[in-house]
Amino acid sequence: MSLHKVFITRPLPDEVVKRIAAQCEVRVHPEDAPLIPQQLAEACRDVDGLMVCGARVSKEVLEKAPLLRVIANVAVGYDNIDVAACTQRRIVVTNTPDVLTETTADLSFTLLLATARRLVECDRYARQGHWHYWKWGYFWGTDLYRKTLGVYGLGRIGKAVARRARGFSMRILYYDIVRPTPALELELGAQFVDPDTLLREADFLSLHVPLTPQTHGLIGARELAMLKPTAFLINAARGKVVDENALVEALQSQRIAGAGLDVFEHEPEIDPALLALPNVVMTPHVGSATSETRLAMATLAAENLLAALEGRRPPNPVNPEIFT
Ligand code: 8YV
Repeated sequence: MSLHKVFITRPLPDEVVKRIAAQCEVRVHPEDAPLIPQQLAEACRDVDGLMVCGARVSKEVLEKAPLLRVIANVAVGYDNIDVAACTQRRIVVTNTPDVLTETTADLSFTLLLATARRLVECDRYARQGHWHYWKWGYFWGTDLYRKTLGVYGLGRIGKAVARRARGFSMRILYYDIVRPTPALELELGAQFVDPDTLLREADFLSLHVPLTPQTHGLIGARELAMLKPTAFLINAARGKVVDENALVEALQSQRIAGAGLDVFEHEPEIDPALLALPNVVMTPHVGSATSETRLAMATLAAENLLAALEGRRPPNPVNPEIFT
């Protein structure tokens, strides 16, 4: 019996690679850097399994990979993969939900606290030797207590953020295309409102929607104009959900108070105008970056990959219709 051939787009934890190597012939891209499409296409030429982290798997790449049967994405979001083209070819696509929920919610909440209390500005001030005497009037921030959190997208991560906000005595409003059960709303203390009400009432608007054609540019000039001038925007979902030019404009003109951003429209490039704004706290797409969670993501992706290669239904298919 010939071994399955697998390509992994980054060096992932040894124990995970070893587990795959016990059953498959594995090649690992040696650099923790993105592959250009030609490199990826070349590497996929003769593989039936692909474990991908960050790289874009386009139709063109798929066309160069005639033997491919499974793509295990090491991420919960799978907007980097042309899933429709995979489904047509009956290639299984999987993701890594659940294992990163709490970690990503922590980062969203970190950004929320950091923007509210101007953490990075304070840190810079202390480090740069500006602190000569205590001042009554420096670095006044904003309380979270009794403020309104608007959760846009009450999926797994949105719910985990809402749970955290309860502990801070926040009022929680949410909007989602799917309405959760009354029991869950009660548990979270979250109230459903339409999107415009969410925008108007939120003191902190936290985005938790996947990137789809429907959510691309979801928060643009119109939506930003509806926020309170004291509101903060938090985005640890996907950069393209926000129109970054409109955000820069809203921040520069003080239409809104600030933003906490882990993701950017054209990441890793960040608009220089955004970089110049002191009321923006930014992190380089590290929502799931803890040692525990990254290991759990790689492990789950490997489980998905091996299950599909063995002809079993993997735990997390994103195109389950191919099994019917
Ligand atoms: C990934 C993420 O690490 O899971 C996601 O959707 O955004 C991150 O956890 C990143 O997408 C790299 O694949």
